[in-house]
Amino acid sequence: MSRPELQAPPEIFYDDTEARKYTSSSRIMEIQAQLSERAIELLALPDDDVPRLLLDIGCGSGLSGETLSEYGHQWIGLDISESMLNIAREREVEGDLILGDMGQGLGLRPGVIDGAISISAVQWLCNADKSSHEPRLRLKAFFGCLYRCLARGARAVLQVYPENIAQRELILSFAMRAGFAGGVVVDYPHSSKSRKEYLVLTCGPPSLSSATPKAKGEDGESCSEDDSSADEENPTVCISDRHRPRKKQKVNKKGKGRNWVLKKKEQMRKKGNVVPPDTKYTARKRKARF
Ligand SMILES: C[S@@+](CC[C@H](N)C(=O)[O-])C[C@H]1O[C@@H](n2cnc3c(N)ncnc32)[C@H](O)[C@@H]1O
Repeated sequence: MSRPELQAPPEIFYDDTEARKYTSSSRIMEIQAQLSERAIELLALPDDDVPRLLLDIGCGSGLSGETLSEYGHQWIGLDISESMLNIAREREVEGDLILGDMGQGLGLRPGVIDGAISISAVQWLCNADKSSHEPRLRLKAFFGCLYRCLARGARAVLQVYPENIAQRELILSFAMRAGFAGGVVVDYPHSSKSRKEYLVLTCGPPSLSSATPKAKGEDGESCSEDDSSADEENPTVCISDRHRPRKKQKVNKKGKGRNWVLKKKEQMRKKGNVVPPDTKYTARKRKARF
């Protein structure tokens, strides 16, 4: 079965039938509850029994939000599928529900949210479902609004199913551009079934509290983003630190050359950009016309 994101836009894929099917599957209920519990753990809210106001992005029929209620928190849930929200209402979830598209912003006042979770939803932003959709602009709008509505120092934990590494990097890069500090926690990296990825983001400048938490797995070790081979072979935790100093670009006096251009084009393709194919004319020397 292909990924739901590739089958139809979310508001169409999660129609009345699918929304009901989703919410009546005991397997899905169990998995979503486990993912939500882990997201709450990664939110690392103060252990003081004070209820917090949390945001559940792509809340669906309220499975993830129910876990927030179990932990005693108030929550606001946003989803693009009316059918999913109807079921959430039917199930009398405790959260306040908003029908909306996270790719167009969140419509919340600045600094009012104490923490945000999103379970299995944000990867949907990487698809262009309408001719007006540009995934990069939608990611920018989403992360910009998320950053603004969170209180300084608050965290957002987004569990995602990126289609590939480039998609994960794309999502993370827009989070970093919006101002978040943090990175990706990969739980059970060696298990194809249990492997789960969480973007753990902190609002505000980096501090001790914005350090990326440890992942769950067999060995519990961590690896840094610089060690990209380790990411493939032993990806226990991957930390992407936006405050790493930028490398200075080496510029050859004779120009950048064909190899440089080919490498750049390959990088752009990996980021999901449409890049013209490489031909014998790529990076050819042009005559000065004037
Ligand atoms: C797999 S469901 C997860 C629902 C819920 N978080 C849970 O754990 O059961 C993904 C949800 O993301 C929602 N979604 C996808 N794209 C969205 C968007 N652009 N804005 C808001 N919600 C979106 C879908 O409608 C769907 O309800």
